[in-house]
Amino acid sequence: MRKKVSIVGSGNVGATAAHWMASKELADVVLIDIIDGVPQGKGLDLLEAMPIEKRDSQVLGTQDYADTANSDIVVVTAGIPRKPGMSRDDLLHTNHKIMKDVVSKVVQHSPNCILIIVSNPLDAMAQAAYKMSGFPRHRVVGMAGVLDSSRFRTFIAAELKVSVENVTAFVLGGHGDTMVPLPRYSTVAGIPITELMDAATIERLVQRTRDGGAEIVKYLKTGSAYYAPSAAVTEMVEAILKDKKKILPCAAYLEGEYGIRGLFVGVPVKLGAKGIEQIIEIKLTHEEQAALNRSAEAVKELVGVIGV
Ligand code: NAI
Ligand code: 2OP
Repeated sequence: MRKKVSIVGSGNVGATAAHWMASKELADVVLIDIIDGVPQGKGLDLLEAMPIEKRDSQVLGTQDYADTANSDIVVVTAGIPRKPGMSRDDLLHTNHKIMKDVVSKVVQHSPNCILIIVSNPLDAMAQAAYKMSGFPRHRVVGMAGVLDSSRFRTFIAAELKVSVENVTAFVLGGHGDTMVPLPRYSTVAGIPITELMDAATIERLVQRTRDGGAEIVKYLKTGSAYYAPSAAVTEMVEAILKDKKKILPCAAYLEGEYGIRGLFVGVPVKLGAKGIEQIIEIKLTHEEQAALNRSAEAVKELVGVIGV
């Protein structure tokens, strides 16, 4: 049977994710939004590209959650993006309200789906969705680490003038200013970047990664990044639908792993057909653990504000 992915929010990230997924023929895609006509128009436009792409993906735009029924995965991108001068945290109350509206409808129509949360502030929104959905923790996952580590990989590859295919990188922690890029676990063809670049260069790339979202917002002025974010969501969707057991940095609800309990934080997980099939615990140095704890504290503060 064909797989079904519904994407709530047909704006920049949602529509572009639909584009990547349909053109990779990963699943039939349903786009949904509160704005009348936008999901319908974008969905039909994308569907009409499929003959050219030689793909049989069905794409449907709708405002009716009944059309999303029995989705294998539901991606939530509904919410407002930040504008210049705003942090991801400034979106907290508005997007929490939107999340409440969306999650109850998603759960009603797709009680067995895996939820991938994208809306910001990411870790707090994932926690809100997890609590509201009543789903087990392996079926709620937040997208951030794949994006942040892809940015880090981009900067490493450009600095060393090597193929991006050679570069792997890990970014842990919350999706905010306190995120924790891990140079020791970031490699070029298996060689840790700490062997290939001096500390000052690495620190410059780490800081650019932390500021990666803001760098795009500054250019766009009216919204935030969407090509790389939607590609990141698509990698997660593919790992789940194809049961790839892929290790990716994702926001997961921790129950004692890394010494953190009752909180969504970015960590390496194994993504497969069941969703988060394992949380991988890697050994951290004292400084890395301290940075992760600081990042978790920042998430805890936000989660406390909305009481989830
Ligand atoms: P956008 O403004 O282009 O699209 C958001 C869409 O959500 C709009 O079309 C809006 O009508 C829709 N929407 C609002 N309330 C809704 C509701 N109750 N039900 C259904 N749809 C609703 O924004 P964009 O750029 O697509 O970003 C979406 C969210 O994703 C933002 O919160 C942004 O900060 C976040 N984001 C997170 C990333 C991450 O790494 N986790 C990366 C990029 C964006
Ligand atoms: C980003 O990092 C907006 O969170 C989004 O680009």
